[in-house]
Amino acid sequence: MAKHETPLLDQLESGPWPSFVSDMKLEAEVRAKNEAGIEFQIPVDVVDDLMGVLELSYVHGRTHWKHGGIVGVFGYGGGVIGRYCDQPEMFPGVAHFHTVRVAQPAGKYYKADYLRQLMDIWQMRGSGMTNMHGSTGDIIFLGTRTEQLEEIFYELTHNLNTDLGGSGSNLRTPADCIGSSRCEFSCYDTNALCHFLTNLYQDELHRPAFPYKFKFKFDGCPNGCVASIARSDMSFIGTWKDDIRIDQEAVQAYIGGEIAPNGGAFKGRDWGAFDIQKEVIDLCPTECMWMEGKELKIDNKECNRCMHCINAMPRALRVGQDTGLSILVGAKAPILDGQQMGSLLAPFVEVNPEDDYAAVTEVIESIWDWWMEEGKNRERLGELIRRAGFQKMLEVTGIKADARHVSEPRCNPYIFWKEDEVPGGWERDVKEYRKHHKR
Ligand code: HEM
Ligand code: HEM
Ligand code: SF4
Ligand code: SF4
Repeated sequence: MAKHETPLLDQLESGPWPSFVSDMKLEAEVRAKNEAGIEFQIPVDVVDDLMGVLELSYVHGRTHWKHGGIVGVFGYGGGVIGRYCDQPEMFPGVAHFHTVRVAQPAGKYYKADYLRQLMDIWQMRGSGMTNMHGSTGDIIFLGTRTEQLEEIFYELTHNLNTDLGGSGSNLRTPADCIGSSRCEFSCYDTNALCHFLTNLYQDELHRPAFPYKFKFKFDGCPNGCVASIARSDMSFIGTWKDDIRIDQEAVQAYIGGEIAPNGGAFKGRDWGAFDIQKEVIDLCPTECMWMEGKELKIDNKECNRCMHCINAMPRALRVGQDTGLSILVGAKAPILDGQQMGSLLAPFVEVNPEDDYAAVTEVIESIWDWWMEEGKNRERLGELIRRAGFQKMLEVTGIKADARHVSEPRCNPYIFWKEDEVPGGWERDVKEYRKHHKR
């Protein structure tokens, strides 16, 4: 018999999609029976009370968590999101209900053994409920009490060799697409770079030193499977600068219908026979492809590497071999001054593990040097760029302005010149002017 009546939540147990309500009920039951004989360190009925308070929120149409909450572990300035219920007498199981962010492996590959050990800690010291994963990438342990935080941290670090993730005004947990581990489009090893930089900047991640939050994300190609261009202050997107590799025999196999276009992604509906002219050549945004007899041709110097043709014919077309990444900066959600996606800063940067990715870290650190000094309190990088100007961003990173930095040139004429660019400078004497122009 459930602790609280949950008629509204119960409705969410029907339908084909996996029901979070059914899962919570299952976990509540597992805790109540405790067949594994776990020494629970927080209330056994935490999940029942979570369902209770959620049901109450469904009735009221408003949240029942108090404002904020500042908890954590010694040595770190972030990693735990404190939270307290505003009806602690009614729902004592969730009077404390803190969230622990746990650093996830790049690409989110796991072994069952590792996940089991994680859950052994969490079943005993937390609610047993998780979010796999938070939007930023972390493994999320959902709900525990303050006294358990150091205990969990001790076990994670000493037994599982695992650290916390980031929260607060600091470098948050970096995340990446699966990259070259399982994708032939990947232009660099996203897992390796994400892991390396996460380790390199542990201090910046665990101890807030920034004007505001800062996020890294790593996409292996412009398809953007981790959406770095929209969800990270610094977005690293793989690309290449030589030619697309064409296998003409495979092109013929696509034309002849032997290979389904787009890896069969549109098989659920009859779109007719594959038409390379209509589905690839005519859709190329720069119109740089054509058929010459039976040969597919690409004018690579006009190709903007949009991925369309490669996505359509993955067995015939491959990314080039001279690969690297582009760095885009400033993506953020709307608050305060409007949403932004990343703007292209470095069109092509070498990715070289041999020299510890020096070309990449140089750009990161020059941006931090600037933003950490100039950024206002709670001002994202994207907002600083708008306030101080993209020109300033180029100056501090030492990147030369070129046409690829704009989608179009400015149309207003409010152009600033530096004084030394203007013959004679700004110091002028009106008397000198009056010699030639009477009042
Ligand atoms: C060789 C003679 C002239 C030159 C070189 C000249 C130059 C200019 C320039 C550079 C502007 C600013 C344009 C802008 O940045 O938007 C301007 C605007 C203007 N000029 Fe002249 N001008 C001349 C003659 C005149 C005369 C004779 C009149 C009136 C009797 C006049 C009236 C105006 C007005 C009202 C504006 C403002 C227009 C606006 O803001 O929409 N100009 N002129
Ligand atoms: C009540 C009368 C007037 C009003 C309300 C007025 C209004 C304006 C406005 C709104 C501007 C544009 C300012 C800007 O956007 O930067 C302007 C510019 C200008 N006005 Fe007037 N104006 C008046 C009288 C005059 C007269 C009598 C003259 C010349 C005989 C004149 C000549 C100009 C010129 C040359 C400019 C361009 C200045 C520049 O671009 O730097 N205005 N005026
Ligand atoms: S972003 Fe590109 S490289 Fe990464 S998984 Fe997606 S398609 Fe593959
Ligand atoms: S990658 Fe895009 S721009 Fe380049 S040839 Fe293919 S479709 Fe055209």
